[in-house]
Amino acid sequence: MAPQVWLVIGTSSGLGAEFVHAAVARGDKVIATARNVDRIAHLKDIGAAVMQLDVAASKDELDLKAEEAIAIYGTIDVLVNNAGYTQFGTVEESSNDEWFKQFNTNVFGTLNTTRSFLPHLRSKKAGTIVFIGSMVAWDGVPTVGTYCASKAAIHYAVESLSKELSPIGIKTLLVEPGTFRTELLNEPNCKSARTKFEDYRALTETVSSGFRTLNGTQIGDARKGAERVIDVVKGQNGTAGKEWPMSLLVGSDAVAVIRKKCEDTLRQVAEWEDFSKSTDL
Ligand SMILES: NC(=O)c1ccc[n+]([C@@H]2O[C@H](COP(=O)([O-])OP(=O)(O)OC[C@H]3O[C@@H](n4cnc5c(N)ncnc54)[C@H](OP(=O)(O)O)[C@@H]3O)[C@@H](O)[C@H]2O)c1
Repeated sequence: MAPQVWLVIGTSSGLGAEFVHAAVARGDKVIATARNVDRIAHLKDIGAAVMQLDVAASKDELDLKAEEAIAIYGTIDVLVNNAGYTQFGTVEESSNDEWFKQFNTNVFGTLNTTRSFLPHLRSKKAGTIVFIGSMVAWDGVPTVGTYCASKAAIHYAVESLSKELSPIGIKTLLVEPGTFRTELLNEPNCKSARTKFEDYRALTETVSSGFRTLNGTQIGDARKGAERVIDVVKGQNGTAGKEWPMSLLVGSDAVAVIRKKCEDTLRQVAEWEDFSKSTDL
C-alpha cells in the first residue's frame, strides 16, 4: 500500500502523540497538530510535519487550517479527530458556560474540523475520518454528564455521517476507547464545576476519588490503542476484508461496559415490551 497522509488533531500527549509515532513508524506521512505548536516541535525529529490547530477556532479559521494542512503533502488521506478534554460536575451544577465549552471542543470543534476537510475528501471521493469517542457514550457516569453527553453526541453524529459519506467513498471510523493511561485526567487538562449543593457533595466526592485513583492506573496502553486503530484503517494485523464496526471498541473495559449495557437494554426492552407496545393505534 502506498504511504498515506495522516492529519492527527491534538498530539501534545496521550493517544494523539501515539498515533503520530505509530503512523510514522509504518512509513506514512503525518501532520501533527496542537494548540501550542511548541509542545509538539519534537515530533519534527521523527519526520512529522507540525502545525497549530485549535478545534474551538471559528469555522473560517478551520477552513484556512485545512488549506494549510492539505498544501503540506498535497492531500490528506486520514483525518484523526482526537482532541478532547473532560468536564467534571453534576448536570445541575455545571454552568451553561461549562456545558458550552465542553461541547465547543468535543462536539462542535470535532464536527467543524471534519466539515473543513470534507470538501477535499469529497473532491477525491476517498479518505478516512477517525473519531475518538468514548465508552461513556453508552453509559452515563454521574458527575461526568457533560463529557458523557459530548461523546454520545459524537456517536450519533458519526452514525448519521457514515451513512452520508459511504456512498461517496469516504469511510468513517468511530473509536470508543475504555480507560487509557494518558494525560486526560491530569490537571489542568480536565475541568471541574464547583459543588454548590450539599445534596451532591457525597456523590461528587466518591466519584472524584474514584477518578483520582484511576488516574495513572488506567488499564489501557495508549500506544497499543493507537496501533489497533491504525491496523483497522490500513487493513493490517488480521483486519483486512472485515466489515468495520459502527463502533470500534478498544480496551477490555470498553468491551465489558458496552456488552453489559446492551444486555441490560435487551432485558429492559423485554420486561417492558407489552407496556411499550400498548400505544399503537
Ligand atoms: N484516556 C482515556 O481514558 C480516554 C478514554 C476515552 C476517550 N478518550 C478520548 O481520547 C482523546 C485523546 O485524549 P487522551 O486520553 O489522549 O488525553 P490527553 O493526553 O489529555 O490528550 C488530549 C489532547 O487533546 C488536545 N486538545 C484539547 N483541547 C483541544 C482543542 N480545543 N483543540 C485542539 N486540541 C485540543 C490536547 O492538546 P493541548 O492541550 O496540548 O492543546 C491533547 O493533545 C480525547 O478525545 C478523549 O476524550 C480518552
